[in-house]
This record gives sequence, C-alpha cells and structure tokens, in this order.
Amino acid sequence: MAMATMAYLTVIALSITAVASDTPAATQYTNHTVGGVSGWFFNTTTNTSSTNYTSWAASQTFNLGDYLIFNTNTNQTVVQTTNDTTYQSCSMDDASNDTFHYGGGSNQFGQAIVIPVPLTSQGTNYFFSDTDDTIQCQQGMAFQIFVNLGLGLPPSLNQPPPPPYVEPPTPSDFPSPPGTVVTTNQQTSGGANLRWEIWDMLFGACLLLAWRGL
Ligand SMILES: *[C@@H]1O[C@H](CO)[C@@H](O)[C@H](O)[C@H]1NC(C)=O
Ligand SMILES: *[C@@H]1O[C@H](CO)[C@@H](O)[C@H](O)[C@H]1NC(C)=O
Ligand SMILES: *[C@@H]1O[C@H](CO)[C@@H](O)[C@H](O)[C@H]1NC(C)=O
Ligand SMILES: *[C@@H]1O[C@H](CO)[C@@H](O)[C@H](O)[C@H]1NC(C)=O
Ligand SMILES: *[C@@H]1O[C@H](CO)[C@@H](O)[C@H](O)[C@H]1NC(C)=O
Ligand SMILES: *[C@@H]1O[C@H](CO)[C@@H](O)[C@H](O)[C@H]1NC(C)=O
Ligand SMILES: *[C@@H]1O[C@H](CO)[C@@H](O)[C@H](O)[C@H]1NC(C)=O
Repeated sequence: MAMATMAYLTVIALSITAVASDTPAATQYTNHTVGGVSGWFFNTTTNTSSTNYTSWAASQTFNLGDYLIFNTNTNQTVVQTTNDTTYQSCSMDDASNDTFHYGGGSNQFGQAIVIPVPLTSQGTNYFFSDTDDTIQCQQGMAFQIFVNLGLGLPPSLNQPPPPPYVEPPTPSDFPSPPGTVVTTNQQTSGGANLRWEIWDMLFGACLLLAWRGL
C-alpha cells in the first residue's frame, strides 16, 4: 500500500517536472531582435523578405513585458494587432482599437530606424508591414507569436487603460414634472456654499482655541 502510494506520488512529481520543463519559467524580460542579424527588411527586386520570420518566431519564447526590436528602415512599417481579420487583410483599413502602427511618418525612403515594440497583450499577437500596398505583407513581411504570462507586465508598461467614454448627460436624462425648472447648477453651488460656511466655522473655532491657548 505504502509502496503503491510512493510510486503514485513519484509519477505525479515526474509529470509535474515534465510539464514545468515544457515552457522554461521566465526569470527576466527579454528583448527579441526580429529576424536576428537579418533585421526587418523587404527586397523589392527579389520580392522577398530578408529572412523567414515565421521560422524566426518559432525559435523564441515570448512573455508579457518583453520587447520586439525591429532593426529596419523607413521602407517598412510595423503593425501590431491581436485581430486576426486585420492580420489576414495585411492592411490598417477598418483596424480595431487593438491595432498599433509604428514607423512611417518619414517622407524619405531607406532611412535606418529601430522600432521597439512592447508585448503588453497575452495570447496571439500578429505583426506585419503595411507598406507597398499589402505586397510586403503577402510576400513574407508578416508573422504571429504567442505571448505567455511570464513575470506579468512590469510597472513601466502596466498603465491602466483610460476610463471608457461616458456620454455627458443630456437634459432629457433628468425627467421633471411639467412646469418645474431643473436647477442642478444652483443646487451644487448651494452645496458648495454650505461647505464653505462649515469650513469658516471650523477655522474660526480653531483660531479661538489657538488664541485661548496662548
Ligand atoms: C529593451 O528595449 C527597451 C526599449 O528599447 C529598452 O528600454 C530596454 O532597456 C531594453 N532592455 C534590455 C535588457 O536591453
Ligand atoms: C535585393 O536583392 C538583390 C538580388 O539579390 C540584390 O542585388 C540587392 O542588393 C538587394 N537589395 C537590397 C536593398 O538589399
Ligand atoms: C511580388 O509579388 C506579388 C504577389 O504577392 C505580385 O503581385 C508582384 O507583381 C510581385 N512583384 C514583383 C516585382 O515580382
Ligand atoms: C517559412 O518557414 C515556415 C516553417 O517555419 C514554412 O512553413 C514557410 O513555407 C516558410 N516560408 C517561406 C516563404 O519560405
Ligand atoms: C477586427 O477587425 C475587423 C475589421 O478589420 C472588425 O470588423 C472586427 O470587429 C475586429 N474584431 C475585434 C474583436 O475587435
Ligand atoms: C476596444 O473596442 C472593444 C469593442 O470592440 C471594447 O470592448 C473595448 O473596451 C475597447 N477598448 C478600448 C481600450 O477602448
Ligand atoms: C526604399 O524604397 C525606395 C522606393 O521604393 C527604393 O528606391 C530604395 O531602393 C529602397 N531602399 C532600400 C534600402 O530598400
């Protein structure tokens, strides 16, 4: 019986070890240079990317808080998205709010730039270049990665999203009986006046106490 329990526990321990060694535990944040020494380039003569980015991505483990470093020039851009439809379209048209565009904005071709892109969204992330009217993206300037939790986002990247937009209230939101006038503003200023009076009284009492204490 005891032997059986021991054997059972050993099996459990071994399987836990096996599972744990599948994905090495993250101990630090990593900067991944996209494409390694090949960088992020498209050759318009050969109509090919400078390396196979799908193969490159398969060689890496990505975690939240890591950066992708795109060594490139202004002939390419970087689009980051979690939207599969946007990725398949190779274009920013109708892009949803989880799509970010880096690079571009320069009117000079071929200027060297380095684009650091933080990984802030767990799960599948897509990257592509949207220049040359989707040709770059169709011809290999595109890849997808899976972002693991790792250590979680560092404080420097862990900005809460801005609060959702709330429609300002319109007068029709405050139904009032016919004939009465809504006096919201007067009420708040009346409340403010009352607060000032309380402060005045408290301040006066403090002065009185201080004077008596002398
Ligand atoms: C990774 O890249 C980011 C953005 O460029 C930079 O702030 C950070 O210092 C880099 N980290 C390392 C370990 O190189
Ligand atoms: C593109 O490829 C051609 C043929 O291999 C090569 O001659 C040319 O230098 C390459 N262009 C760039 C910008 O790397
Ligand atoms: C590059 O490939 C695209 C197809 O993705 C094709 O339409 C285009 O004509 C090609 N360009 C050259 C220069 O071969
Ligand atoms: C890039 O590599 C992947 C496998 O890692 C392969 O499926 C794909 O066909 C390759 N793409 C090109 C354009 O060679
Ligand atoms: C993805 O993008 C398409 C348009 O490209 C949009 O219709 C769809 O709502 C988006 N999906 C999400 C989950 O935002
Ligand atoms: C992005 O759009 C989705 C709806 O498609 C919405 O649920 C989400 O709150 C939006 N996120 C931000 C940060 O605006
Ligand atoms: C950048 O694109 C322009 C216009 O297509 C081309 O003339 C130039 O050779 C490209 N430069 C590099 C470094 O790829």
